[in-house]
Amino acid sequence: MCGIVGYAGHEPAAPFLLEGLQRLEYRGYDSAGIAVFSDKVRTVKSKGRLADLRAKVDAAGGVPGCLGIGHTRWATHGAPNDINSHPHTSMSGHITVVHNGIIENYIPLKEELEAQGVVFRSETDTEVVAQLFDKLYNGDLVGTLIEVIGRIRGSYALGILCTDYPDTLLAVRKDSPMIVGLGEHENYIASDIPAVLDHTRSYYLLNDNEIAVIKAESVELLDLNRQPISHEVFTVNYDISAAEKGGYDYFMMKEIKEQPNALRTCIGSRIHDNEIRLDKLRLTDEQIKNIGRIHIVACGSAWHAGIVGKYVIEELTRIPVEVDLASEFRYRRPILARNDLCIAISQSGETADTLAALREARANDVHVLSIVNAVGSSIARESDDVLYTMAGPEIAVATTKGYTTQLAVLYLIALKFGKIRGILSDAEESRLRTALEALPDQLEQLFADEAALEALARQHAEKDHVFVIGRGIDYGASLESSLKLKEISYIHSEAYAAGELKHGTISLIEEGTLVIAVATQEALYEKLISNVKEVKARGAYVVAIVKEGSRDVEGVADQVFYIPDTADIFTSTLTVVPMQIFAYYTAIARGCDVDKPRNLAKSVTVE
Ligand code: F6R
Repeated sequence: MCGIVGYAGHEPAAPFLLEGLQRLEYRGYDSAGIAVFSDKVRTVKSKGRLADLRAKVDAAGGVPGCLGIGHTRWATHGAPNDINSHPHTSMSGHITVVHNGIIENYIPLKEELEAQGVVFRSETDTEVVAQLFDKLYNGDLVGTLIEVIGRIRGSYALGILCTDYPDTLLAVRKDSPMIVGLGEHENYIASDIPAVLDHTRSYYLLNDNEIAVIKAESVELLDLNRQPISHEVFTVNYDISAAEKGGYDYFMMKEIKEQPNALRTCIGSRIHDNEIRLDKLRLTDEQIKNIGRIHIVACGSAWHAGIVGKYVIEELTRIPVEVDLASEFRYRRPILARNDLCIAISQSGETADTLAALREARANDVHVLSIVNAVGSSIARESDDVLYTMAGPEIAVATTKGYTTQLAVLYLIALKFGKIRGILSDAEESRLRTALEALPDQLEQLFADEAALEALARQHAEKDHVFVIGRGIDYGASLESSLKLKEISYIHSEAYAAGELKHGTISLIEEGTLVIAVATQEALYEKLISNVKEVKARGAYVVAIVKEGSRDVEGVADQVFYIPDTADIFTSTLTVVPMQIFAYYTAIARGCDVDKPRNLAKSVTVE
């Protein structure tokens, strides 16, 4: 969603801000702007892409100054236009603000300020912060910020400039990410590490209600009582090339191809001497033995990973698993017991609904174990335990390696818990662990089908509807496959449990309808082949995704893609890959922006 970047140093701020915003483009945005302070604050804003903003900055002959803030906005309050884009400046021109999140009580605050004669220019909730700050301002920058924080409700990461402080950048966060980057004779703020990754690998990760006072030569961290806070310096070990395209046309294909290595790291680093070691969990073996129920909470693809995880965890541990959409869980008064476990899954670690769901679980004394990619993110920090997926930065809006590494962590949990609870014999655990370790190489083999999948994509690019069907775990994987196609190619696609087709949906099948049938589960294979015959009989064009050596499928489906043989419970990691590639080439054939699909944002930090 929105992105923030800020600079305090001795070099021109504007080029830094524009470059940083470019690195945050993947979060999704519809307008952008920068404000730079020299003798006064100059602001340039533009609806549309960063290229539009750059053109305006160039037309203005640049924006002088070595202190500045920038923002990419994904509209929530007010249309995406020049006026509503950030930064927002108070009426007097004293205070300039960029903001991620939502100020929930902005309407009463706005009314209060208007009654005092303040004239608002934009429709945004953010402008209220700038105007309120200015109204309360008494020369004490930090003191005023603390007062403002006491008045606003909601979520925020704020970057603030004040014309009385020509060398100071102020930042604070609550329920929205903000980091402080530590440079040499310059320091930065950003909502996300990649924005400043080519300038520093050292950061302070701000916690809620921590204030950062940033100058070129110093960073001061304070709590709401103005007491200094000491923070460990957080260091990342990946460089900017990991967050760049590396020769690919789109991040999405780069990230698809990174999956074998991501899985090798995620799985390989947790298997030592033939034993799965789940980092340093606080959860004890005794607690694992006593888990009554597992609640998985997540959104989108992470929720799809949770659906597959339910099948695998229930199979290997016999612990009942409920999978909730985080946005539903948080408001449905879930029934939680103290010996339950909540597993929160999130690539970004910043998804607002998932964060709220985990807070709900913790408020009920339920232990939260999160599966997260973004190190140091809010979900990771607020959980009792975290298992990182170690996929590296994921930039394309449509997740690929994020999803498959989430599955891998769920498999590791299922195997480990199954062994601890005595459900899995040593021999069975060893067989499955070996199968798990083989997945990265097996996934790599699937890339051999890229040309055939591209041809298939071109053949079906003009289709209006696609159905993806499967049973059991294959149904779980179909949900993700179907989402990949619809989100980036804009083709209407639905995943269906194959046994459910006859209860209504089959009436939508007509001559030429594309049906992708995922059939990797031995016990359900015959039944799925029968479902394929049913749709074939009604004119569907069927593409089957099956395991090597599967019987009878060639004579039934129009085209078949084979995945290498693996344990039935692990097939989703492989079946989803041909669909990622198919979705990618379908989007290309339809002229869509693969990495930045319309209306979508990478990190959904509002509910
Ligand atoms: C789809 C996709 C989204 C995310 C969802 C949750 O490709 O990426 O559906 O899975 O927005 O995001 P995270 O995992 O960051 O919580």
